[in-house]
Amino acid sequence: MIIETVTILAGHDKQGNPEPSERVDLRPGDSLALVGPTGSGKSELLSDIEQAACGDTRSGRTILINGEPLTKAPSGMVATLSQKTNFVMDASVEQFILLHAESKGRDGGSLMAPLMKMTNSLCGESVSQEMSLQVLSGGQSRALMIADIALLSDTPIVLIDEVENAGIHKFKALEVLAGHNKIVISATHDPVLILMNNTRLVMRNGAMTALLYATKNERRHAENLKHMDDILMRAREDLRMGRTLEMQEET
Ligand SMILES: Nc1ncnc2c1ncn2[C@@H]1O[C@H](COP(=O)(O)OP(=O)(O)OP(=O)(O)O)[C@@H](O)[C@H]1O
Ligand SMILES: [Mg+2]
Repeated sequence: MIIETVTILAGHDKQGNPEPSERVDLRPGDSLALVGPTGSGKSELLSDIEQAACGDTRSGRTILINGEPLTKAPSGMVATLSQKTNFVMDASVEQFILLHAESKGRDGGSLMAPLMKMTNSLCGESVSQEMSLQVLSGGQSRALMIADIALLSDTPIVLIDEVENAGIHKFKALEVLAGHNKIVISATHDPVLILMNNTRLVMRNGAMTALLYATKNERRHAENLKHMDDILMRAREDLRMGRTLEMQEET
């Protein structure tokens, strides 16, 4: 199925009041950030899209694909990077990749090397094929999940729940996940990641309350924020690796 539009039709907030934003339309190439305080309903909205809700979820929303509701959850259309960082499966990284590739009708053998390379470019401590999924740290698991979504799943819709949370390279992660001409929806609290999207949907009390477009000034401001973020990340990395910030000053 070729996706031309994804439409979110409003339901209600946590008290059952209609949502102020009545609909949101997305097309391939669009990126939407979900912003709002903790508990405001960002993950719930991602889950509505993942399940292709039909008025049958807590929010009462309906998701239309190409203007039509789906009768069952979309298969092969949506990949989700969830807030959870653990694998339920007890297998090695290699077995997981081969099994997942097989389920998608793809050649896991040839995807193995690029997938491992991408995983290791996203996290600090390296992951090898022989490792058990169960021994991976939160960050390593997220890095593997991201590489899996980017290279193996390769779906037209990508949902991302707080990519910034697991100590991985967040900008690089968003870049590889966004891919070409996909619809990308990310829940995030990170100001730079928010401004990397062309639109943002403000969530409050479980409801979609406003759709905002990044202005020219905001984009300019984003450059400064990115610079500040780089400094912060470098300091974080130095401290995490047991270095002192004195060394950073000297170099
Ligand atoms: N429209 C709604 N109607 C009823 N319940 C809702 C609605 N939206 C969200 N909820 C519920 O509110 C709780 C918090 O929502 P959710 O987990 O989506 O918040 P969040 O914005 O992702 O928070 P965080 O930033 O902490 O991840 C969940 O239990 C969710 O099911
Ligand atoms: Mg959430």
